[in-house]
Amino acid sequence: MAAPRGRTQEGRRGSGGSEQSIGIAAPVAGQAAGFTVARKGRDLQFMNVLVLGGGGFIGSHLVDGLLRRGGYDVVAYDLYREKLEESIGHERLRYVAGDIRSDHERVERLVAESDLVIDLIAHANPSLYVSNPLDVVRLNFDENLKVVEYCVEHGRRLIQFSTCEVYGKTVAPLIGPEAVVSEEDAARYAVFSEDTSHLILGPVGKHRWIYSCAKQLLERLVHAYGLEDRLDYTIIRPFNFIGPRIDYLPSEQDGNPRVFSHFLQALKDGTRMKLVDGGGQRRAYTLIDDAIECIARIVGRPDACRREIFNIGSPDNELSIRELAARMIEIYRRRWWDGVGRLPTTETVSGDAFYGEGYDDSDRRIPDITKARTLLGWEPRFGIDEVLERSMAYWFEEPLERGLVEKPVLTGA
Ligand SMILES: NC(=O)c1ccc[n+]([C@@H]2O[C@H](COP(=O)([O-])OP(=O)(O)OC[C@H]3O[C@@H](n4cnc5c(N)ncnc54)[C@H](O)[C@@H]3O)[C@@H](O)[C@H]2O)c1
Repeated sequence: MAAPRGRTQEGRRGSGGSEQSIGIAAPVAGQAAGFTVARKGRDLQFMNVLVLGGGGFIGSHLVDGLLRRGGYDVVAYDLYREKLEESIGHERLRYVAGDIRSDHERVERLVAESDLVIDLIAHANPSLYVSNPLDVVRLNFDENLKVVEYCVEHGRRLIQFSTCEVYGKTVAPLIGPEAVVSEEDAARYAVFSEDTSHLILGPVGKHRWIYSCAKQLLERLVHAYGLEDRLDYTIIRPFNFIGPRIDYLPSEQDGNPRVFSHFLQALKDGTRMKLVDGGGQRRAYTLIDDAIECIARIVGRPDACRREIFNIGSPDNELSIRELAARMIEIYRRRWWDGVGRLPTTETVSGDAFYGEGYDDSDRRIPDITKARTLLGWEPRFGIDEVLERSMAYWFEEPLERGLVEKPVLTGA
């Protein structure tokens, strides 16, 4: 993993790792209408939640959200802690710095001490799937499987983060351009359901699919442990979450972040936005606030979510990457452009040139969220313009002026 520039030493992985608990006023426990928290004896207890990958984009928002909500003692385990800035200091948070690849005993102990394990640790960046496929499978499958087995061994509930990439491609590219597919059919092919859709990946030589494949195999093992009645689990398949703190700007850190961050950099510099293979691929974008609300409901309702897989996404927020670029330029022009600096233009680059040989992509994916609606009563609230504007505001406004990036209120109801 590329070492981020400008990170504080305490935020870096120590040789043996470190544990810190930090304190500011705690939220009131047990105010959670609709939430189930662990009860021991007759007293309401705080549920002990271990968030592996709690220093990442989704993990840090989840930690913040759980602490704001109250009723949880949270251990956030990660290589880094910078994104936990909001919660570092909270008396109900313990941050544990460590590398899961060499910290097995301690991770098992943390699992044994928890009521619930939420595992988000993964390499989740397309450039790594192409440049370091073995590292991807070793972390995303081998190391995550150990966590699954600790949960089996100690009888702990597991919420396992998978990915919408397990769905792979729609059938449209298989049918081929010569087949006449109506717009309506094409959209229908692109809607993926947790328990009925087929998972269609590309050839082995297109090694970008190793990410999807590793996550899929992990899901299948989790499911198999459930079949043997040895694991209480829920699997989450996120569909393109974006928001404050996603990745990093390429100018601030080595590496190759996800597309939203590349486009932000182009807006800041007035340079070109690169559209990989023309940017015709379509994605449905979900604001992190909406996603965290759904995840919080999964945390709080173990019975409804037992042995279920959930898509989390905003089906109405679909754009092609080309449209995403245009929409971000337009929002930037309207909200933050000084009228003087250069606005970005776009250019097409090949996937192999941008990511390296072995790149391939999903053409389109739209989440079917019937299950989250039915079992959790969850509905995404933010339309695409608001998703983009709130996410972009984080990078274009001074922290104190980030009024748009209000804190999500988790209802858990
Ligand atoms: N963001 C999305 O839209 C999205 C989409 C599909 C799937 N996912 C999945 O959700 C999960 C979280 O994704 P994210 O977007 O927050 O990514 P992220 O990269 O921000 O978070 C992953 C975290 O894992 C940590 N980590 C990596 N290797 C580690 C190691 N060896 N030891 C300890 N910690 C380590 C990283 O430091 C990082 O904080 C991942 O499993 C990812 O595959 C996310």
